[in-house]
Amino acid sequence: MTTPLPLLSVSSLMMQFGGILALNDVSFGVAPNSITALIGPNGAGKTTVFNCITGFYRATNGVITLYGREKDTNIGQIIGEKLSVVDFIQPKILLRKLYYKMFGGSHLAARSGVARTFQNIRLFKDMTSLENLLVAQHTQVNRNLLSGLFKTPSFNRAEQLALENAYHWLSVCGLADDANRLAGELPYGHQRRLEIARAMCTKPTLICLDEPAAGLNPNETEALSVLIHTLKNDYHVTVLLIEHDMGLVMSISDHVVVLDHGEVIAMGSPDSVKNDPAVISAYLGIEEEAANS
Ligand SMILES: Nc1ncnc2c1ncn2[C@@H]1O[C@H](COP(=O)(O)OP(=O)(O)O)[C@@H](O)[C@H]1O
Ligand SMILES: [Mg+2]
Repeated sequence: MTTPLPLLSVSSLMMQFGGILALNDVSFGVAPNSITALIGPNGAGKTTVFNCITGFYRATNGVITLYGREKDTNIGQIIGEKLSVVDFIQPKILLRKLYYKMFGGSHLAARSGVARTFQNIRLFKDMTSLENLLVAQHTQVNRNLLSGLFKTPSFNRAEQLALENAYHWLSVCGLADDANRLAGELPYGHQRRLEIARAMCTKPTLICLDEPAAGLNPNETEALSVLIHTLKNDYHVTVLLIEHDMGLVMSISDHVVVLDHGEVIAMGSPDSVKNDPAVISAYLGIEEEAANS
């Protein structure tokens, strides 16, 4: 029997910022339709992993493959390579690289089925919740200038579908009453859920959530846990989660990957990771530093 391919594979990822080696040989896989948590002390490199997976950063080295949609996507490749003279005799490669230069890596990662939320909420605060979700769908809605000018039936239909999709996700995320409120005026917990709704609007196969429970009260955290389960069970989305709330991590994750100082120090089931001496000492080390300061 062969083991099924992961949905996402991260292999020997390296990220260097000047003199700082933020990620050193990071490798892990994410199984399809699973909830995988990426944990570790502050500064461990968790957000940097997300930034590489979602095309915000170009990794110094390593391969990230998303096995999804119609074809597999090598994320490092779509966002990474520089133009070279040889490309001019290979129009396909040239076009792909030019496309990246015009539209950016995160745009292409989104098209290949990856969506994310941010550790520090990034919404258009002066737009309504609904408008935030419509803007998010611009990569998918089939609009061109002429069909927009002439309001062709296919243009109207695409607009209508985008609207329905937006209302659907507002409702799943418990935000139906907030559709016409400005995002910046929503309570903090609602803004966090609006970020998830926005990510889901793009119909991702993989959603990356960066500390979604940060700043939430226990009731909101419980509601978030239910929502994440819904994404996995009802919408068959694969979830990659960075989170500090260990209660949440241990209760919802199928698989946990632990980073410390840019390296993977443990991975496995929540129970095995919780009792791993390397993990305990990484977290105790942080507590000792805090106690001594
Ligand atoms: N854009 C950047 N430029 C320089 N250093 C960065 C940048 N992004 C992250 N780092 C550094 O990389 C390390 C890991 O940061 P980060 O991935 O944000 O950690 P975590 O999310 O685990 O708290 C830190 O030392 C941080 O200062
Ligand atoms: Mg972070």
